[in-house]
Amino acid sequence: MELVRAATYDRRIPTAAERVWENVRDWEHLPWLHRSSFSSIALLDEGAWGWAARIGLQPGEDGARGGEIVVELRIDATASRYVARTVEGALQGAEVWTEVRERSPSATDVAVEFLVPQTDPAVVSQMGAGYLALYRQLWDEDESMMVRRAAELGALGSTPPQQERLRLGTPEALRQRDAPVVTWRGRPFRIREHEGTWIAHAARCPHLFGPLDRAPIEDGCVVCPWHGYRFDLRTGQAAEGRPYRLPSAPRVRTGEDGALWLEPAGSRRLTRCAPGDAGRRR
Ligand code: FES
Ligand SMILES: [Fe+2]
Repeated sequence: MELVRAATYDRRIPTAAERVWENVRDWEHLPWLHRSSFSSIALLDEGAWGWAARIGLQPGEDGARGGEIVVELRIDATASRYVARTVEGALQGAEVWTEVRERSPSATDVAVEFLVPQTDPAVVSQMGAGYLALYRQLWDEDESMMVRRAAELGALGSTPPQQERLRLGTPEALRQRDAPVVTWRGRPFRIREHEGTWIAHAARCPHLFGPLDRAPIEDGCVVCPWHGYRFDLRTGQAAEGRPYRLPSAPRVRTGEDGALWLEPAGSRRLTRCAPGDAGRRR
């Protein structure tokens, strides 16, 4: 099948190439980080060569998308590039080539080329425009993940102060704040009201350091927006038997002054996490 170039896309990512390659190998984030584009993913194969997966597409506003495709992503580490081939479904045969070049520890250039099966030039140009719109959004979302992860990795390793108490402020003042996060013994914790009780829970996911500060709580579990892992607020344990656990959270107590305080009394155990549905995007 002859392929023609439908579009190209160049972008500088403000992080090291290591973060980009990590993201390329991470098939699991597609229906979570890119939830507006993908609805599900089922891994078919994975290895040093890359991965292959069946991916559900979100329907577009015009109903034009939707359905499923099978994508095979192959990495050529020597040439510092990878190709994502659609081997089944819409745009079968199309290939997206991406070259990755690190310019500095905080700058990596990616050069993307979209190749589609040869057809009417007007259709090719339309496909190119569609790919560009999609990939701009995907790279925006990926960049936010890579930059946040790089910052979290950079913050590791400092010696945590041994705080004994931390004044959080009055409940009224806390309610005025948008998703309040405090640092307790060197780690970020989100302070929130849950089922009428003030609690603290880790604001950094133990999987790949995803942001839990705005993560929803569902059935007693905090749900990470990057890969959908669910953590039981009662035990801290990841659902579905995954080998991750939230750091033990300090307790939120009301002081004599009417303000809320953090104290090192272990996490305040709340509800039990309901049987998981984290696999629903699989
Ligand atoms: S970073 Fe992967 S589930 Fe949180
Ligand atoms: Fe991505």
